[in-house]
Amino acid sequence: MSKLWGGRFTKQTNALVEQYTASIGFDQQLAEEDIQGSLAHVTMLDKCGIVPQEDVETIKDGLNRVLEKIRAGEVEYSVSDEDIHMNIEKNLIQEIGAVGGKLHTGRSRNDQVATDMHLYLRNRVIALTGMLHELQTSLIGQAKDNLDTIIPGYTHLQRAQPILFAHHLMAYVSMFQRDIDRLIDSYKRINVLPLGAGALAGTTFPIDRHFVAEQLGFDGVYENSLDAVSDRDFILEFLSDASIIMMHLSRLSEELVLWSSTEFNFVELDDAFCTGSSIMPQKKNPDVPELVRGKTGRVYGNLMGLLTVLKSLPLAYNKDMQEDKEGMFDTVATLEGALQLFAPMIATMKVNKGRMREAVNTDFSNATDIADFLVGKGLPFRQAHEVIGKTVLYCIQNGKFLLDLKLEEFQQFSPLFDDSIYEVLKPETVVDARNVYGGTASVQVQAAIGRAEETLSVSAQWIQGHVGSEKE
Ligand code: ARG
Repeated sequence: MSKLWGGRFTKQTNALVEQYTASIGFDQQLAEEDIQGSLAHVTMLDKCGIVPQEDVETIKDGLNRVLEKIRAGEVEYSVSDEDIHMNIEKNLIQEIGAVGGKLHTGRSRNDQVATDMHLYLRNRVIALTGMLHELQTSLIGQAKDNLDTIIPGYTHLQRAQPILFAHHLMAYVSMFQRDIDRLIDSYKRINVLPLGAGALAGTTFPIDRHFVAEQLGFDGVYENSLDAVSDRDFILEFLSDASIIMMHLSRLSEELVLWSSTEFNFVELDDAFCTGSSIMPQKKNPDVPELVRGKTGRVYGNLMGLLTVLKSLPLAYNKDMQEDKEGMFDTVATLEGALQLFAPMIATMKVNKGRMREAVNTDFSNATDIADFLVGKGLPFRQAHEVIGKTVLYCIQNGKFLLDLKLEEFQQFSPLFDDSIYEVLKPETVVDARNVYGGTASVQVQAAIGRAEETLSVSAQWIQGHVGSEKE
């Protein structure tokens, strides 16, 4: 069979042009969505009296057969049929004969491909939200196991103030919650139907776009036919949401790499999530977080790539837009790969509580609390700061930490010191003193975990309500 659009041409397409312009090598990932969209379209053609019912039945039957063949790996795609849409149509016609040619009535590949991508991304967004939710669940699990684990908190990567390890982990739960919120918000703009826009201007057939939308579980239809076929904002939005998720994962990755170094030795990733060295037998490398950190680059690249493709493109469809797919597929695969590994990797991570405690006992991260103590005794904060600076310097010069000082040593810097300073300086006291909403005190962190669990159950409901919501 010749090309579906061959009528106007007198020559064969140059073989290199065929290769160069074809997208079947990657858009075959849209096969399921393409057939799903076609089934809804053809059902509407029947309902609107555009194609006779018996032809529609034959077409539906043929589409389902093609789908089965695709699933069974029995369809051989051909580059000369350019893309997934024409490959499927060609297969349909082979399957049921010329009547298959009625499927494309009132439709263009321009509104068809856009519909496929809306369907595809909608499912990916639901799946990714679920994976982020799993990761949050792992983080919360570790947080609950570490409500009494104190680590140094850092600014400038210098020890600053002691915090609960649970508090540190819950920061990531908040970050991933924003990611979930962003994905859920973007769903509104993904779940809109372009089909019915035709090539760009609409169609002369008396179609019913809202009926198609309803069958496919879309919440609405595109308002403007030109916009419907040339909009790729929903993909850009997905790529930017994905970039932020990767950025969050790469910050966590960086901490895991640091924490699992001999220098920190705060955590140990499970053997199942690490790899060895071909030459240094003692090594256990945190490859997964390293690779996630590294793969963040390609996701940013995919965002910049598509932004640049779309820049200055005149309305409506241009072949440039075929470049929207590989970056999107690659981003989905990269993100899913990372999230699938992160949830179990965090859940199985061993936390070296003893080593964390040792770190806290051998630093000056409780110094701020002396200031608060002296201020409590009536000393102005600036003067208190000066007193502590001198006390810390004395400690450094004498190889001691604050809790090693005798009361007389404290008192040489201020007569306001008394015995109660030792209680004030204990890491537990320092942590629990930050008893403010959102702070690191145990009661606050417990409350934060409780609130996070409520939020998580709201997103679980959203995911539940959207998985498989589309009508077949
Ligand atoms: N493979 C094309 C794409 O991905 C489908 C749309 C083709 N439309 C056209 N007018 N050539 O963009």
